[in-house]
This record gives sequence, C-alpha cells and structure tokens, in this order.
Amino acid sequence: MDQLFQPFHIKNLKIKNRICFPPVVCYSAGREDGSVTEQHIEHYRNIAKGGTGLIIQEATCVDELGRLSRRQLGIWKDSQIEGLSAIVQAVHQEDCPIFIQIHHAGVAGVEKELLCPSNYRFQKNGGENAGREMTLEEIHRTQQAFVDAAVRAYKAGYDGVELHGCHQYLMCEFFNCRVNRRKDEYGRYPQKFAVEILRAIKDKVPSDFVVGIRLGGFEPDLEASLRFAKILEEEGIDFLDISYGFSGEDEPAAPEEFPFQPCIYAAQEIKRAVSVPVFAVNSIMSPKMAKDVLQKTNVDLVDIARGIMVNPNWAKDALEGRNPGKCLHCKECTWSREMETCKGRILLKRQREIVQ
Ligand SMILES: Cc1cc2nc3c(=O)[nH]c(=O)nc-3n(C[C@H](O)[C@H](O)[C@H](O)COP(=O)(O)O)c2cc1C
Ligand code: SF4
Repeated sequence: MDQLFQPFHIKNLKIKNRICFPPVVCYSAGREDGSVTEQHIEHYRNIAKGGTGLIIQEATCVDELGRLSRRQLGIWKDSQIEGLSAIVQAVHQEDCPIFIQIHHAGVAGVEKELLCPSNYRFQKNGGENAGREMTLEEIHRTQQAFVDAAVRAYKAGYDGVELHGCHQYLMCEFFNCRVNRRKDEYGRYPQKFAVEILRAIKDKVPSDFVVGIRLGGFEPDLEASLRFAKILEEEGIDFLDISYGFSGEDEPAAPEEFPFQPCIYAAQEIKRAVSVPVFAVNSIMSPKMAKDVLQKTNVDLVDIARGIMVNPNWAKDALEGRNPGKCLHCKECTWSREMETCKGRILLKRQREIVQ
C-alpha cells in the first residue's frame, strides 16, 4: 500500500495514515475569554471528516497572561475543559485522534509585561516587544501551568498533548542559547525548562496518554537540536514534531542538493538519531511531495498545514487520486482572519465548478 496511507501507531494510539494536520491558530473562530465556539468545533470536525490521520489542535494557551492574541484558545482554567471536550468528541466521532498543542507566548505575547528567560528585545508586527528575565518563582509557576494544562487536556479526552517548543515562544526561548543567557541551571541546561515539565506531566497522566513536542530543528543549529532530541527521548518523549527554531536566532541549513525545506532536513537527521516517531513539516505542497518526503527522509508522519487549510478534504482527495488543490503562498495568509478569504480555497472551488 502507498506509504502515505499506511497506518501508524504512537504507543497504543492507531493513526490511520501518515497525514497530520499540525497546529494552526484560527483567530476568526476565537473569543476574548479563550473559550471554544461552534466554529472551532465545525472546523476540526471538517478536517477529521476529510480523512486526516491525526489532528494537533492549534496553540492553546496555558496562561491567560501568556497569550499570543486576545482571541487565542485557552486551557488555563478548569471551566475551559467542557468546551475543549466538545472539539474532541466531534473529531473522535469522525474516527480521528486529536492532540492539543499547549503554549505560552513568552516575549511574543500581547501583554505590557512579557516574560522571557533573559531580558530580550523582539521585533513583532513592526513594533518591539521587550521581555523581562523571569524569576525562579515565575519559572516554576509557568511550568506548573503547562502541567495543569496537560491534565486538563487528559480530562477533556484528548489523545495527547504537544508541547509548543519552537518558533519564538517561551519554551523555545529557553532552548535557544542566544535568547536564554541565564547564569543559573535553566541557562546552563537549556533543556531543563521543558524536561521538568515533561517529567511532571508524565507523573500525572496515565502511561498511554501521548506527550510529544514541537521542537526547532535549528536551536540555534542542528547540532544543538540533535542533542535536545536525544535528551527528550531519554526523558520519555513520545514523538518529535520538527519545525523551525526561534526566528532570527536560528541557523537553518541543509546541503544544497537536499530537495525539501531545511527543517525537513533537520527532521531527517533527528530521525536517524532517535527511535521515537518524528514528524516533518514545511511547504509540503502535494500528495506526491508528501510521499517523497516519507520515502527519502524516513520520517514517520508529514504535517500538511496550508494544504489542509485550503482543502479540509486533502487526505481523502489524495487517497482517491483527486487534485487536492494547493496553497498559493500569499504574501499575507488571510485564512486565520477569515477562512473563506483564503485564495487557495477560492481557486479550488472555481476549478471544481469548471470541471462539473
Ligand atoms: C495561519 C497560521 C497559523 C499557525 N499557527 C500555528 C500554531 O498554532 N502552532 C504551531 O506550532 N505552528 C503554527 N503554524 C505553523 C504551521 O503549523 C506549519 O508549521 C507551517 O504553516 C508550515 O507548514 P505548511 O507549509 O504545510 O503550511 C501556523 C501557520 C499558519 C499559516
Ligand atoms: S490564505 Fe493564501 S497563504 Fe493562506 S492558506 Fe490560503 S492560499 Fe495559502
């Protein structure tokens, strides 16, 4: 059978094919209190119906003061469990497992006072965010917020959590030695912040609940990320989803002849070094390319973000040999603001009308 459609297991969890919809924030569906809306439920139901093997729900904030946007989904209090479990039920009804990405924005947040491992200035939307070095007490409180969020995720019925440890957010800020210049143990051992969270979560949830991480493949370079990947494996991480590191402070590099994005190269190299499942992402534009990535790099799952944003039926269309459409890489992705303005969606609908 085509490798893209071969089932896969993470621990006891069966995933019916190798296509994962990775976390994608969907602000158009959000409310200021971080609660789940009907739109979120329908959005995830549609993607599950579309044949996707695994969904990782968008970055969902563990701390009201650590948000990336005022309309970001939240998992910082128990009263949010009920809404989140409605997403889980809708997705499970369509025979698709779902993890939730748990997140703290750190220096990329929206509050006046922003936390960061060290004092750090960060350019965001044409302005400058200034992060203040966290005290030990703040570090421990934030770690506890991640652990509490994972327990809530378990109670809501998710099959697992993904720690958001890449791009430019708090956990990534700890991993990256150019952002984390602390003189204490959290600076000497940049993985300490994440590892302590992982251990504490594992202590609190049953062993079949999956706990993975989205990790930068260059944090700040591949050598450092390989080291983090091996440590996380030793500490019991269940999967590694490899993306980019802290933007501007990472050094993405792949050999010239490598045919895919540098962070897919990082995923390939990390896969060679560990035995836990590894996911690859970025600019996988077609089912043919997805198959090539699986075959050439030996990673276990491919993340298709913008392809599935354009067409929630991407996986089913790929399986049945239809053209699933593609992302047009617009200068500004408008999907998050309003899904129906996505130019790739509009083009695919037009093409299908013409064919009919
Ligand atoms: C609108 C938008 C929102 C995103 N939100 C998240 C997020 O919540 N968490 C995350 O780890 N990555 C997020 N990403 C990154 C995607 O998961 C993915 O890594 C990226 O789009 C590259 O994959 P693609 O080329 O298949 O789109 C987002 C990307 C886009 C375009
Ligand atoms: S809005 Fe543009 S960039 Fe965003 S998913 Fe649609 S086609 Fe791709």
